[in-house]
Amino acid sequence: MKTHKIAVIAGDGIGPEVIDEGIKVLNEVAKIDKTFKFEFTKFPWGCDYYAQHGVMMPKDGIHTLSKFDAIFLGAVGRPDVPDHISLWDLLLVIRKSFDQYVNLRPVKLLNGAPCPLKKAKTTDVDMIFVRENSEGEYAGSGSWLFKDKPNEVVIQNGVFSRHGCERIIRYAFELAKQKNKTLTSISKGNALNYSMVFWDKIFKEISLEYPEVKTYSYLVDAASMFMVKDPKRFEVVVTSNLFGDILTDLGAAIAGGMGLAAGANLNPERKFPSMFEPIHGSAPDIAGKGIANPLATVWSASQMLDFFGHENWGAKLIEIIEEILVEKKVLTPDLNGTASTQEVGNEVINKLHMI
Ligand code: NAD
Ligand code: IPM
Ligand code: MN
Repeated sequence: MKTHKIAVIAGDGIGPEVIDEGIKVLNEVAKIDKTFKFEFTKFPWGCDYYAQHGVMMPKDGIHTLSKFDAIFLGAVGRPDVPDHISLWDLLLVIRKSFDQYVNLRPVKLLNGAPCPLKKAKTTDVDMIFVRENSEGEYAGSGSWLFKDKPNEVVIQNGVFSRHGCERIIRYAFELAKQKNKTLTSISKGNALNYSMVFWDKIFKEISLEYPEVKTYSYLVDAASMFMVKDPKRFEVVVTSNLFGDILTDLGAAIAGGMGLAAGANLNPERKFPSMFEPIHGSAPDIAGKGIANPLATVWSASQMLDFFGHENWGAKLIEIIEEILVEKKVLTPDLNGTASTQEVGNEVINKLHMI
């Protein structure tokens, strides 16, 4: 029997609450399938660990994680720890160290999910974002000169390499080709006169290799407007790290909210473990209340199942999420329900047994 070894970093706030449900669901899937199983190893890293040890994870943390097939992450961040420390020293360092350069984020409106767009049908909001996840605005290049002096200056560089742009854009073209979908590039070449002009040039170059894929190119400001006014324009979307971060929260808003938005950080070559996580944060405003929506985490578990080649189960979990949304009987308060995090997790498991 195949064993998938998963490192679990539940993290902070609602992270542990939602990740427990994700683990429960994955174990149940494996139990029913009988041809594979999961072995979960929990690491207590995050802001509590930082408060005790002064670091977000041990020095050899990346080496430890490198032995696993995948990482399942809840969320990181606590109000009393500076966000740039908690995120750079855990989440971002994992994405970078394991060259998880593809951040795959579905923006798909399921039946029954609340949508603030008055006239949108489920078929109108069905996108997959391919967010560059290793460089760009998140390269971490810059400096802070004359810190705390009246003449202080900060510089934050965007780093766009040919290698980095080509590989993410090519990945998006392959995905669009395989799914027979259009591909939209979102950039900002009118103002970012080096980085985004370069991005657009590479998008054009690679498009020549894929004459069968219909392409569009939008400026990020107009794209944000169109995502709200006319979301069906977008199918597969490729964009930079920061734009992808922002646009996928907007995407979450039009596809049912943060409680339903999932993401996969992939190293497509499988040289290193990939990481699966809901895209929301630690939600300190509702942490500890047992009311966080675990469905985003279940959706990211479905992405993990896809990644391991269990696409039938990946699709099944999405169907179950949709059924739960349509029935409206067991939903957390963010979706106007009264159920707890655990009750929603249990409902996913009930439905797994109804197959
Ligand atoms: P957030 O995503 O944590 O919360 C935004 C809003 O959405 C809050 O009102 C929250 O209650 C709600 N929400 C989020 N997830 C929910 C869920 N599963 N169910 C119900 N409601 C949900 O964003 P924020 O408040 O900007 O950030 C909080 C902390 O999380 C910060 O420290 C931030 O840096 C961090 N963060 C971490 C990650 C990550 O670890 N992947 C992602 C984003 C933000
Ligand atoms: C996300 C988060 C992270 C990001 C933060 C927490 C660094 O917002 O995964 O969307 O910006 O990538
Ligand atoms: Mn984000």
